[in-house]
Amino acid sequence: MTENLSPIDTAKYVAAKRASEMVEDGMKVGLGTGSTAAWLVKCLGERVANEGLRIVGVPTSSRTAELAREVGIRVVTLDEARWLDMTIDGADEFDPQLNLIKGGGGAHLQEKIVAMASDKLVVITDASKRVDTLGAFPLPLEVIGFGWQATKVLVEEMLIGLSTPGHSSMLRMNGDAPFVTDEGNHILDLQLKSIENPRQLSMVLNQIPGVVENGLFIDICDTVVIGHGDGAVKVLNLSDQQTRPE
Ligand code: 5RP
Repeated sequence: MTENLSPIDTAKYVAAKRASEMVEDGMKVGLGTGSTAAWLVKCLGERVANEGLRIVGVPTSSRTAELAREVGIRVVTLDEARWLDMTIDGADEFDPQLNLIKGGGGAHLQEKIVAMASDKLVVITDASKRVDTLGAFPLPLEVIGFGWQATKVLVEEMLIGLSTPGHSSMLRMNGDAPFVTDEGNHILDLQLKSIENPRQLSMVLNQIPGVVENGLFIDICDTVVIGHGDGAVKVLNLSDQQTRPE
């Protein structure tokens, strides 16, 4: 599965492999979305096939559901599973408090619901996603299609009011047409440059009519597994770091 991998794919693979080893027999597992999470699904599929690992998986997108079924993982909905032992997912950025930006793949709405319904969120990533301050990666904001241009104006006015270093936003496209999420919504990517107060921003964004969910994951992630191009893996646990305010 890993011959001829580039350093970046090696990093993603080794992080995913390490996280897959955290999954125990009988667990209900949230399955993230994106290229790193795809490695995770493949690693879990190998354990199902080779070790007889019995798990049920709750995918966070139609893409992940399709892959999970292909590799032999039993797929159920979140409503069927009700609560999960663990979710394993990728991220676009993580900071020293293990707060995240997610949604580069347009799946952060389902990803946040699934992560919040889990005892633990484990993020798998390569080292390039580590930042001191979130916000260089454009923050994804899922908005409903109805009146999205008015929502965009309200979001930008709110950002100006908060004096964020950047305040423009762009409708995410898929070729010539707006990108459509699994829930039938659109995505605005917010060019913020730097987010000084992610907790405040997350709460304020979700108050704007038309906004469904933002891609900030605050106080949700417990563990980050960082893969490196040479095959090394580092695991950061929030409990070891004790970096979150009381
Ligand atoms: C999808 C996500 C992904 O986890 C995030 O974009 C990272 O993706 P990749 O592993 O491909 O870099 O949030 O909505």
